[in-house]
Amino acid sequence: MNKTLSNTTQSHQLRKQMEASNVFFLVYVEVIVLLSCFNLHGFNLLGLVTASPVVRGNGTDQHALLQFKTKVTGDPLKIMESWNISIHFCQWHGVTCGRKHQRVTKLDLQFLKLSGSLSPYIGNLSFLRGLNLADNSFYNQIPQEIGRLRRLETLQLTNNSIRGEIPSNLSACSKLTLVDMRSNQLAGEIPASLGLLSNLKFLNFANNSLKGSIPPLFGNLSSLEVLSLAINALSGTIPEALGQLTNLSFFSIYGNAISGNFPMSIFNLSKIRSFDIGANKIQGTLHSDLGITMPSIEFFSVAGNQISGQIPISISNASNLNVLLFNDNRLSGNVPSLEKLDKLVNLGLGKNHFGHGKEGDLKFLCSLVNATKLKFLYIGTSNFGGELPKCISNFSTTLLNLVIEQNKIMGRIPNGIGNLINLEVLSALENQLSGPIPSEIGRLQKLNIFFAYTNFLSGTIPNSIGNLTMLIKLALNENNLQGSIPISLGNCQNLLLLDLSNNNLSGSVPREVLRLQSLSIWLDLSSNYLTGELLVKNLGSCVSLETLSLDDNLFEGPIPSSWSSLRGLVQLDLLDNNLSGGIPEFFVTFGALKYLNLSFNDFDGVIPSEGVFKNASATFVEGNNKLCGGIPELHLSRCNSKTSSTTSVKLKIAIIVVMLGVALVFTCLLVLWFRKKRQQHPRTICEENWLLQLSYQSILRATNGFSTQNLVGAGSFGSVYKGILEESGEVIAVKVFHLLHSGASRSFLAECEALKNIRHRNLVKVLSAISGIDHKGNDFKALAYEFMENESLEDWLYPSTSMNEPETMRNLNFIQRVNVAVDVAH
Ligand SMILES: *[C@@H]1O[C@H](CO)[C@@H](O)[C@H](O)[C@H]1NC(C)=O
Ligand SMILES: *[C@@H]1O[C@H](CO)[C@@H](O)[C@H](O)[C@H]1NC(C)=O
Ligand SMILES: *[C@@H]1O[C@H](CO)[C@@H](O)[C@H](O)[C@H]1NC(C)=O
Ligand SMILES: *[C@@H]1O[C@H](CO)[C@@H](O)[C@H](O)[C@H]1NC(C)=O
Ligand SMILES: *[C@@H]1O[C@H](CO)[C@@H](O)[C@H](O)[C@H]1NC(C)=O
Ligand SMILES: *[C@@H]1O[C@H](CO)[C@@H](O)[C@H](O)[C@H]1NC(C)=O
Ligand SMILES: *[C@@H]1O[C@H](CO)[C@@H](O)[C@H](O)[C@H]1NC(C)=O
Ligand SMILES: *[C@@H]1O[C@H](CO)[C@@H](O)[C@H](O)[C@H]1NC(C)=O
Ligand SMILES: *[C@@H]1O[C@H](CO)[C@@H](O)[C@H](O)[C@H]1NC(C)=O
Ligand SMILES: *[C@@H]1O[C@H](CO)[C@@H](O)[C@H](O)[C@H]1NC(C)=O
Ligand SMILES: *[C@@H]1O[C@H](CO)[C@@H](O)[C@H](O)[C@H]1NC(C)=O
Ligand SMILES: *[C@@H]1O[C@H](CO)[C@@H](O)[C@H](O)[C@H]1NC(C)=O
Repeated sequence: MNKTLSNTTQSHQLRKQMEASNVFFLVYVEVIVLLSCFNLHGFNLLGLVTASPVVRGNGTDQHALLQFKTKVTGDPLKIMESWNISIHFCQWHGVTCGRKHQRVTKLDLQFLKLSGSLSPYIGNLSFLRGLNLADNSFYNQIPQEIGRLRRLETLQLTNNSIRGEIPSNLSACSKLTLVDMRSNQLAGEIPASLGLLSNLKFLNFANNSLKGSIPPLFGNLSSLEVLSLAINALSGTIPEALGQLTNLSFFSIYGNAISGNFPMSIFNLSKIRSFDIGANKIQGTLHSDLGITMPSIEFFSVAGNQISGQIPISISNASNLNVLLFNDNRLSGNVPSLEKLDKLVNLGLGKNHFGHGKEGDLKFLCSLVNATKLKFLYIGTSNFGGELPKCISNFSTTLLNLVIEQNKIMGRIPNGIGNLINLEVLSALENQLSGPIPSEIGRLQKLNIFFAYTNFLSGTIPNSIGNLTMLIKLALNENNLQGSIPISLGNCQNLLLLDLSNNNLSGSVPREVLRLQSLSIWLDLSSNYLTGELLVKNLGSCVSLETLSLDDNLFEGPIPSSWSSLRGLVQLDLLDNNLSGGIPEFFVTFGALKYLNLSFNDFDGVIPSEGVFKNASATFVEGNNKLCGGIPELHLSRCNSKTSSTTSVKLKIAIIVVMLGVALVFTCLLVLWFRKKRQQHPRTICEENWLLQLSYQSILRATNGFSTQNLVGAGSFGSVYKGILEESGEVIAVKVFHLLHSGASRSFLAECEALKNIRHRNLVKVLSAISGIDHKGNDFKALAYEFMENESLEDWLYPSTSMNEPETMRNLNFIQRVNVAVDVAH
């Protein structure tokens, strides 16, 4: 009964994995349209001079520039050094002056690693026509004085860290044609007065934190060609008036919280080439003449909204489209023929209600065979039915992603799928596909992800699957696949996730497959008819494997000791097999383990009570009649000491544990006692005179930079290194505390406090305590001890079972063990 529960959570988790792989469809790549039509040089000097009532002297410009310089606080390239009065300011880096009047007309300091704030004196450069501070690190606000730059035509502050609001006085710069403030931290609302800038052709506020709504007055920006407000926090509706922007070619409000119906007038933008209202809350239907009223459209996305109705048939006339995204809306009906859209690169229709769940729904796919640049085709999570048409084999080989998952698609996977030789992602999960997986799948040698789970696929897993050496995730679970797992699967050396569960697979698991060292997320072979032993040495190399499900098979034999290295396991399910032998102690040390199901096997012996076994809602052992012990909640019988062959060893260990406990209590009492004694100055720990005065640097040198050769042992709170002091040649042991581990700091204080004051022949002497900062600026705490040969006591008490060590050498006899215990108690 736990089985069904765990299966649902598993497939849920798998689905999450899946979704992560599809994110690319929602990732939006902003098309940056560069306008080349800004003529900065055709400037009528006389006209402007006469138009300006006050002609200030050129001394003002120098003063203003010097004031600008004082606010530049960071200048690693030393650009501002040239800004000194020993040379004329017109020769300063980035400054351009008018030829006759020697006034600053252009200030271009793009990409110079400058930081600082913007001086209000900038407003005194009254002849300035171009200001470009893009790609620096200017911060603080844009001064309102910017509004005094009556001749300003281009203002580029792109990619800085500018905060505050957009200055409303900017509307006074009536000559502005280009304003680019994208990628800053601008907040507040967009000043409506910017709608007065009737010469504006390019306005980009993308990637800031702007709130409020789009000012309807923007409909008066009759020269506007580019308007991007993408990735802000704008709300409200799309103003009807934007339909008047007859020159608009690029429009993006992607990634805001704009709602309401979108106005039909917007489809009158006859020059539009890129239209993106994706990731908002917009409702309404698409205009039936869409493909005719927007004849130049290249990029059209309404993805991630609440749009309903059908895709207008007129879209088939929009033959310049290369990106067409309808994903994640409430669209329905048939998808029209897209046969003229032969420039398509990315077609997203997924997460809608398209189709009628029957034959003919996918006819439109065959209209795509002439789309020779097609890379992404996403029709997942809709209501498409019928068979997958054979024409998919005639798709362009440029195709990288084919996602048809979560529909009602039936029939076979066409053999011709093997033609799509550049495919990287193929997801057909949760459909009604039947028949075998075509052996031609082996031609898709670039495939990373192949998901076909939850279908009715039958036959054997083709041997050619071993050709897919780039495969990272393979999930064929919940089908009717039979036969054995192909040995060739062992060639897929990059697999992180493998799920073949819930099929009719039989035979033993090829060792080639279990040797896959890459498997680190998921290995699920559960609910098949797999047989044989789990004696797989090499599975132990999948140190980071998180989920291992072998439940509901016919595996037999013991749990291999090599599994002791699967320390990353979160979930291990061995339910319902024929496994035998004892429950390995090492599961106790698997800190991440949250679910361990050993039920309905033939295990025997004592079940541990520590680690995961402490938690009755994480450990399942029922149906193993020969198990005993464990926590009472598991309701197992008490262990009979006479029948257990390992009892004498366990007893010894128990004695030692008790004695260690006594010693611990004793230490605690001592600590408390000393604390009380020193209450006058608490918390100024470990600054007393130690036998040695050591610094971080000296320890760094002594341990060879904490090299792994010097590593003696590691625990949860710290690592112990062997070190040789440079000055004296003395050998020390250094325990470095892992301060990121909560508790390590406390452990340091406790150990430091306790050991400093205690001298005993059975305790290692603490030579010094080091508390400071390491070379990365992190806190560093360590204790230096006398070095004891012969490694850790733990290894002596619990000899490791690893193969390459002569075990007999390290086994203590009973007398030795008692002596250890007595010494510990002392
Ligand atoms: C200002 O301009 C005059 C000529 O127009 C020139 O003689 C003088 O050197 C300039 N001063 C500065 C500081 O550029
Ligand atoms: C002024 O700038 C010039 C040109 O970069 C440079 O050679 C000179 O050293 C600078 N003078 C001072 C005082 O920084
Ligand atoms: C220049 O701008 C500053 C600050 O905006 C102002 O105080 C000053 O009076 C202006 N005029 C001149 C000639 O510097
Ligand atoms: C933004 O500016 C930083 C320097 O401040 C630069 O390293 C980075 O490449 C720029 N980003 C873009 C997209 O130009
Ligand atoms: C902003 O503009 C208003 C109106 O044009 C003007 O009165 C005010 O002085 C300006 N503020 C600054 C700081 O330039
Ligand atoms: C916007 O434009 C319309 C027509 O071009 C004009 O009548 C109206 O006054 C303008 N609005 C503003 C605030 O300038
Ligand atoms: C679209 O433009 C045409 C003519 O340019 C006009 O007649 C029509 O009313 C406009 N439609 C909308 C919804 O603004
Ligand atoms: C495509 O455009 C042509 C010419 O403008 C027009 O006759 C035809 O009806 C359009 N087709 C669709 C499906 O709108
Ligand atoms: C693809 O192009 C060929 C040759 O131009 C043409 O004969 C065929 O009808 C086109 N097919 C589709 C589905 O557009
Ligand atoms: C694929 O295209 C070829 C010719 O280009 C045609 O003969 C064949 O029938 C097409 N196959 C399918 C399944 O549409
Ligand atoms: C497997 O790959 C080899 C080349 O590496 C290729 O010759 C063979 O046809 C492929 N097998 C299948 C079934 O695609
Ligand atoms: C389980 O294994 C034992 C031997 O270990 C064998 O006798 C028994 O038949 C197996 N049970 C099943 C159901 O395979």
